[in-house]
Amino acid sequence: MRIALYGFMGAGKSSLGQKLAQKLGYDFIDLDTEIEAYTGKTINEIFESESEIAFRKVEHLVLKNFIKQNLDNMVLALGGGSILQPTNRKLLELRNFYKIYINVDIAVLTERLKTQREQRPLLKDLKENDFNDYVKALFESRKQIYEKHADLNFKVGHENFETSLARLHNYLNLN
Ligand code: S3P
Repeated sequence: MRIALYGFMGAGKSSLGQKLAQKLGYDFIDLDTEIEAYTGKTINEIFESESEIAFRKVEHLVLKNFIKQNLDNMVLALGGGSILQPTNRKLLELRNFYKIYINVDIAVLTERLKTQREQRPLLKDLKENDFNDYVKALFESRKQIYEKHADLNFKVGHENFETSLARLHNYLNLN
């Protein structure tokens, strides 16, 4: 089985993905990490030295190269914007990825992201006063697409990490 986790920045795609893969005995791949390895730059550096458009191109290229390998039994954590590109969705569909939307409440995301903005180029230069509005507007602009393309809309409430992980694992019914 091939599983792709997606959702907004700060949703916990990478940490959930890593642990889920461990529980399933699957490989774990983080798309942003793959992009950094491919380019030899951090995500911040790519946005700074080039642009978001350049980042989206390399994001697609790295996903495509990865998809070509046709690997199975994996959990792939996407970046927060990856699923928005129809060409990326097509690649995932080509290999029958089971797409899971990690759906975290916007208020929780906003609080989390306040302490995790440095490594996130879309957020790190925002003024304090603009932060909440920007995050909310970006989330609202993506929400419909996130929901529309989910094979599973996995809602994470105020439970702790271990509970979410166990719930997701049980849901997949692979234990
Ligand atoms: C982005 C999310 C980031 C990273 C890049 C763009 C986005 O990944 O791909 O900064 O557009 O939401 P995370 O969701 O892992 O932070």
